Amino acid sequence: MSAQIINGKEVSQQHLARISAEVRQRKENNLRTPCLAVVLVGDDAASAVYVRNKKLACEQVGFESLSYELPADTSQVDLLRLIDELNDNPKVDGILVQLPLPPQIDSQTVLERILPGKDVDGFHPYNVGRLAVKMPLMRPCTPKGVMTLLEAYGVNPEGKKAVVVGASNIVGRPQLLELLLARATVTICHSATQNLPEEIAAADILVVGVGKPNFIKGEWIKPGAVVIDVGINRQENGKLCGDVEFEAAKARASMITPVPGGVGPMTIATLLENTLSAARLRDKKTATA
Ligand code: GUN
Repeated sequence: MSAQIINGKEVSQQHLARISAEVRQRKENNLRTPCLAVVLVGDDAASAVYVRNKKLACEQVGFESLSYELPADTSQVDLLRLIDELNDNPKVDGILVQLPLPPQIDSQTVLERILPGKDVDGFHPYNVGRLAVKMPLMRPCTPKGVMTLLEAYGVNPEGKKAVVVGASNIVGRPQLLELLLARATVTICHSATQNLPEEIAAADILVVGVGKPNFIKGEWIKPGAVVIDVGINRQENGKLCGDVEFEAAKARASMITPVPGGVGPMTIATLLENTLSAARLRDKKTATA
């Protein structure tokens, strides 16, 4: 068997086209243009690329974006002051603080300072909690993007055995909650998991986000499984690869995401979707105030 490739680039472009059309409609109806504020602290090369791609995507759909590039020695107090300003700025619908932050800044304190309604990354404990109690509001972008891809390819997680590898706040934990919401039976594996190949062998749907190149061996994968690789790793030869051995996994899976061109573009499309929902929520609040 050779797996069907899940084309995240194509699905994300369809979503961006839909968002663009709604932005044009909003302008015709004299509603505000959605505005995303993007904050980058320091000079991490990968973060700079991600932030540039997010700003380009904003332009592509006709959003406004505000960009703040702060030096690596920025204090936590100064960053919190900027968040307070953005929270209070009526033009701003979404606030994104790119992670990781430099060591003098406590990420959790910063993420909790963002108003939950403007938390388009979905990282505020309020939003994570809403997802946990089946009342999602702002949903973390990568896991939500994975669910969009599964739906686009006709994969319904209900009743399936799903295995998530990696228990990070950005990917693994919210992915578990998303798959549970979609009524899968979910197992989450992490660095203390005893027998990883055995857990993976049971997965109808496998989602991996550990940040280790080719960590998951193709031979562990259940024949016919759907494999979603969230990893983006730069190899010594400069090429990107995922967390899953792509060729070997492709020979066993029924569907698989490539790296690049799989989950990555969906994360950005979902961020814009969340920003548009944040703008809609604020329209309603203004209307009923
Ligand atoms: N760093 C790695 N992934 C992400 C993400 O989805 N959002 C933010 N803000 N930072 C990240």
